[in-house]
Amino acid sequence: MSTEPTPLDAYLDEHRERRLATYLDFLRIPSISGIPDHAPDCRRAAGFLADQLRDAGAENVEVCETAGHPIVYADRLRAPGAPTVVVYGHYDVQPVDPIDEWETSPFEPFVAGGRVVGRGAADDKGQVLIHVRALEGLLATRDELPLNLRFVFEGEEESSSEHLDAWLEANRDRLAADLAVISDTGFFDGNRPAITIGLRGVAAAEIHVQGAPLDLHSGQFGGAVHNPLNALCEIVAALKGPDGRIRIPGFYDDVVALSEADREAFAALPFDEEEYRASVDVPALSGEVGYTTLERRGARPTLDLNGIWGGFQGVGGKTIIPASAHAKVSCRLVADQDPDRIIELLRAYILEIAPPGVTVRVDSMGGGRPSLMPIDHPATRAAARALAGAFGRDPLYVREGGSIPVAASFERILALPVVLLGFSNDDDHAHAPNESMVLANVETGIRAVAACWDELAAVGVAGLRS
Ligand code: BES
Ligand code: MN
Ligand code: MN
Repeated sequence: MSTEPTPLDAYLDEHRERRLATYLDFLRIPSISGIPDHAPDCRRAAGFLADQLRDAGAENVEVCETAGHPIVYADRLRAPGAPTVVVYGHYDVQPVDPIDEWETSPFEPFVAGGRVVGRGAADDKGQVLIHVRALEGLLATRDELPLNLRFVFEGEEESSSEHLDAWLEANRDRLAADLAVISDTGFFDGNRPAITIGLRGVAAAEIHVQGAPLDLHSGQFGGAVHNPLNALCEIVAALKGPDGRIRIPGFYDDVVALSEADREAFAALPFDEEEYRASVDVPALSGEVGYTTLERRGARPTLDLNGIWGGFQGVGGKTIIPASAHAKVSCRLVADQDPDRIIELLRAYILEIAPPGVTVRVDSMGGGRPSLMPIDHPATRAAARALAGAFGRDPLYVREGGSIPVAASFERILALPVVLLGFSNDDDHAHAPNESMVLANVETGIRAVAACWDELAAVGVAGLRS
């Protein structure tokens, strides 16, 4: 919150209306990556973003084909000797159902109460545009950027970034950089600026339990054969204990234990447990014994059923032993758990405990790795200074429960340190009806990103390596 308006402030003030209009235009494109019918919309969103980048002054703008939705690449590499940053965000969005819960249509965005409302407002179109506008504003008010930028905006984040790793591997040289900045996370409760230093990974699977080839009369056969739905429930019940611990042997082997310092950092966050409980509107919070709510959410793995089905679901009764039963299960993982290994352990355990009267299959549904960043990396410090300057408040350091698998990919494939510089909020209703984003966070976020580029340039390439 500088006292004197900078040329950038003046430029941004002057173009506020147009900037908001393009934000709303972007939100009108229903780029739902998980629904095949929306593939043309994903392509349209990629094209829109490419145009925005070009207009803002990015070069080598390209809509890159993948086996799925395209990746938008662009760069501005005119600051020789200065650091190079890969900027990541995603232009795809989650599906909109339950559609009846939306107050208006999800793709007819509007502004109300200081928020932009619409699917993708916060996750992640608003944050993607923050970067485009920072680029535009800096180039309009200075001769050149203080550092070099490569933009990578993908269209499959909400459906597990299936084709991104292959693209990163194929474009390793083109993506040479000193650092990756991901803007797809958010602030802490109460809109307090925050830098995320940990993300959970994910491992998902489907359990299929088969009994007889067809449903059986439960009077004729009940008691003589094992019911697949019962069997599935027995299996599911054995996955977790009443203490909230996951019972799969080996599941916790690679979990990095919380240090005393970690626990103190969690405890120091301004968090009101009762307020949190009330905000999610549940009768009580629940989780693994021996850990606080913030620890459970940020630093401990989970196992959740996401869906379960089988047998008769219609009105009235039907006395059958269903032929089959099914469940979708997913785990959130923490450093250093490996999603493939977790699926193997889950499969081995389920097959071991499955009753002999049924056939059980466990199919992997993919996953992503967790990440944990050092709090004192020079790039993280630079981002923190930029946030503090723009928002007038020192950021908190938090570990988030959500997953952005590309964070681990940037580290693993491109050997880049990662900074998670995000501007959304827990009460933005991401993935839910009436998604929104605090407009002031977008506006101030643009200034924070511009300040971050100056801070990183001041640190320099050598400083970033130390
Ligand atoms: N932006 C979120 C990730 C996120 C959520 C980070 C909350 C921090 C706090 C991202 O778009 C997302 O939803 N990721 C998915 C990944 C999954 C599809 C592999 C998730 O976490 O469920
Ligand atoms: Mn996101
Ligand atoms: Mn998301």
